[in-house]
Amino acid sequence: MTETRPPQSAHLEAILLVGGQGTRLRPLTLRTPKPLLRTAGVPFLAHQLARARSFGVRRIVFATSYRAEMFTEAFGDGSEFGLSLHYMTERSPLGTGGAIRNAAEALTCGPDAPVLVLNGDILSGHDIGAQVRTHVERRASVTLHLTEVDDPSRFGCVPTDTDGRVTAFLEKTPNPVTNRVNAGCYVFQRSAIDRIPKGQVVSVERETFPGMIAAGETVLGYADRTYWLDVGTPAAFVQGSCDLVLGHLPSPALPGPTGEHLVLPGAEVSPNAKLSGGTVVGARARVMSDASVHGSVLSEDSVVESGATVHESVVGAGARVCSGAVLRNVVVGDGAVVGADNELLSGMRVWPGVQLPACSVRFSSEI
Ligand code: GTP
Repeated sequence: MTETRPPQSAHLEAILLVGGQGTRLRPLTLRTPKPLLRTAGVPFLAHQLARARSFGVRRIVFATSYRAEMFTEAFGDGSEFGLSLHYMTERSPLGTGGAIRNAAEALTCGPDAPVLVLNGDILSGHDIGAQVRTHVERRASVTLHLTEVDDPSRFGCVPTDTDGRVTAFLEKTPNPVTNRVNAGCYVFQRSAIDRIPKGQVVSVERETFPGMIAAGETVLGYADRTYWLDVGTPAAFVQGSCDLVLGHLPSPALPGPTGEHLVLPGAEVSPNAKLSGGTVVGARARVMSDASVHGSVLSEDSVVESGATVHESVVGAGARVCSGAVLRNVVVGDGAVVGADNELLSGMRVWPGVQLPACSVRFSSEI
């Protein structure tokens, strides 16, 4: 009897983790999974797919769960992107480790091959090729991209020894021992993925990596300080979109020439309106005279009326910001209306379809 082996892929294979619910980005993620939110004019994932491809990846398995069918609709078999895309959907969310194990069923590489694993909500300018080379040269079980952040107290941190080996995964603390944090891009040996328990909820951060360190496996850190952003919160999502438009992170997936702003086809912007800070004006959106839009994302079919101010905010699809309203650091859900002269500030979220009446301030001498 001849043994049948899976075909060996000439290229690096990747798993993309895209099954999370994106709760921190609600209400934007109520209808659309976070990796599909339009960022600098295209679904967020398009930037990651283009980058992975530029490092030689040709075959990607999407680990889906929340609204899985929307990924197939958006990316199909991947041929449009020069990729071969495959989908592995969890019946109920298996966590990051369980999702990687489940998706690995669709890999074609052998046990000794490296596999790239990417969180579906990270923008990163790091050299994936160098991370893979480090992993292969050092014969590691897994090599994690670590990024150096100015304020590590907001993250769990990941110390390494002088040889680059990860020594621990530490929870958030006010006094972190290092400014290096897990950047959400891993190179695994296929055999290390196969050791994750099948069909169970597993977290790589809390279970798999600490378990591998305790077992004496080589868990390496690949640290750098290139551009890195986790777009998990509204403020970070807006920043990521603006950074792409402003060219702070080059992306082969940008839909056209960019600069201070990106205006998509069918949008109308009054010559008297001011757009700045990497603002995106979505398809068929309208920005009327004397409106000021800075560092913001205006989704398709949205309207910003005359004299309104929208700064560092997201305006959902078909939503309307009426004249004179002021929004700073706000998320307006799809189809919502912010009535004239309202002032919404820091972190407010307007749920889809909500209509805020105009803010009428009357001065009168009558009692
Ligand atoms: P929040 O709910 O706002 O924390 O966002 P999230 O659901 O995306 O969670 P988190 O940012 O911790 O997830 C990191 C990455 O793993 C994201 O790309 C998620 O899509 C993905 N992810 C998280 N949990 C699961 C899961 O159970 N299954 C799959 N397939 N992916 C997951």
